[in-house]
Amino acid sequence: MANNAASAAPGGGVYSDTVVRLFSLAAVVWGVVGMLVGVIIAAQLTWPELNFGISFLSYGRLRPLHTNAVIFAFGGCALFATSYHVVQRTCQTRLFAPGLALFTFWGWQLVILAAAITLPLGMTSGKEYAELEWPIDILITVVWVSYAIVFFGTVGIRKVRHIYVANWFFGAFILAVALLHLVNSAAVPVSLFKSYSAYAGVQDAMIQWWYGHNAVGFFLTAGFLGMMYYFIPKQAGRPVYSYRLSIVHFWALIFTYMWAGPHHLHYTALPDWTQSIGMIFSLVLLAPSWGGMINGIMTLSGAWHKLRDDPILKFLIVSLSFYGMSTFEGPMMSIKTVNALSHYTDWTVGHVHSGALGWVGLISMGSLYYLIPRLFGRSQMYSVKAIETHFWLATIGIVLYIAAMWIAGVMQGLMWRAVNPDGTLVYTFVESVKATFPYYVVRLLGGLLYLSGMIIMLWNTVMTARSGRAVEVAIPAVAPAHA
Ligand code: HEM
Ligand code: HEM
Repeated sequence: MANNAASAAPGGGVYSDTVVRLFSLAAVVWGVVGMLVGVIIAAQLTWPELNFGISFLSYGRLRPLHTNAVIFAFGGCALFATSYHVVQRTCQTRLFAPGLALFTFWGWQLVILAAAITLPLGMTSGKEYAELEWPIDILITVVWVSYAIVFFGTVGIRKVRHIYVANWFFGAFILAVALLHLVNSAAVPVSLFKSYSAYAGVQDAMIQWWYGHNAVGFFLTAGFLGMMYYFIPKQAGRPVYSYRLSIVHFWALIFTYMWAGPHHLHYTALPDWTQSIGMIFSLVLLAPSWGGMINGIMTLSGAWHKLRDDPILKFLIVSLSFYGMSTFEGPMMSIKTVNALSHYTDWTVGHVHSGALGWVGLISMGSLYYLIPRLFGRSQMYSVKAIETHFWLATIGIVLYIAAMWIAGVMQGLMWRAVNPDGTLVYTFVESVKATFPYYVVRLLGGLLYLSGMIIMLWNTVMTARSGRAVEVAIPAVAPAHA
């Protein structure tokens, strides 16, 4: 196990863990910030007066701040931390170009800072999940290319022949995000803070949602599957259920995701056949998604009893249940007749957060709870009880959030389409907004619980770091089994 603190073994050297430590701490801090902004906008949707008439605090500006903070700051830092850790441990070597790895840390923090300043000021390219203006996009490209050099360079200097499957998922995430970012962010600058997309009309929409869906598939899924394939076997002390299935899972998932984007543009000016292709590939996507989920959950076979008193395992396994749920729901929502009801409603927001809070959030937290004590020379977090409390706060928070949004979403969809015998609408739009009020209150409550769990995690992390010390871990001379 990699947690044996030791000084450098002669010739073997030590792992480059400084950058992993920095990214892990940053992930926890940005998690609190991003979720706090989520709670603020949930409150603003409930009581619009909370915009306070101040432009910087208006919902329209804070919403992209929330999505950028949780996806790219919280999720991004967790992905950097875990991928740098996993690639070293499974390749039995230290990072290729540790200095460049440190550059990716500071460069990424600069991107986050720039986003935190420009988004509330209303500077945006207007493309969802790609709002940042062109100078920041260039910085992202530089950081990302450096990340690719460090990651693939490390794979290149590995001391074991085999490339463990987690690295395949991390590698696909890095390559696909590079491609998505470069294509979707192509723009014509007109000033330092304003640019226009290189594409127009329906092509612009198509490219944006090819990007948007694959941001889900690669940023919010493939990299986190890399975490799943490393941290679940580690925490459970069992090998991956089926290594063969993990390879089929990998190729099927990355091939299928690329074609599903048009399900975000049903009933628009996009050619109908394109919409149908998007729908069919989304339905096919159920198979690799569930194959991966089953592979993760079945890794626990023979060790189910560990779930009873291991809160880290609870995070990791329950995250997979939410992954299974959201990847069942997504294909259903991609069916055009279902989408006619769900689109524009809070059902979509419920779906997003069952994936985001349930899958992305819980798998990151579980992996970080495994990683953080080891980075500070401890066998476990400062308080295991606090991990358990966090788990229950998060789980109850998610259930409240997504149940409220499902009910609100279906209700809105049905109210909007209800017509009288003479063809007039039964409800005005504002009546549907009023009817949604109680569900927004419940969502806010769920968000508050989820956020409070994250604040407990921050406290636990600070206490763990303070009671431990940054250790250097020697690279073992003999390569152990990777899983
Ligand atoms: C305390 C936790 C959170 C709360 C209270 C919260 C709340 C919200 C709210 C109120 C919205 C706007 C919904 C709307 O436009 O109607 C939103 C959007 C969004 N949030 Fe969160 N959020 C939380 C955590 C997260 C996390 C951890 C992630 C990702 C890892 C995430 C990803 C997103 C995304 C992608 C959207 C845009 C959804 C869409 O366009 O349909 N959220 N969130
Ligand atoms: C098999 C897998 C999945 C499929 C086929 C799928 C399908 C869909 C569909 C049909 C929509 C609604 C589009 C609309 O009406 O506008 C949607 C929205 C969304 N899904 Fe999924 N989904 C899947 C998994 C996930 C997962 C695991 C996550 C999060 C980690 C996620 C995040 C999102 C986001 C962020 C949106 C909202 C995009 C926006 O409008 O801003 N999806 N998805």
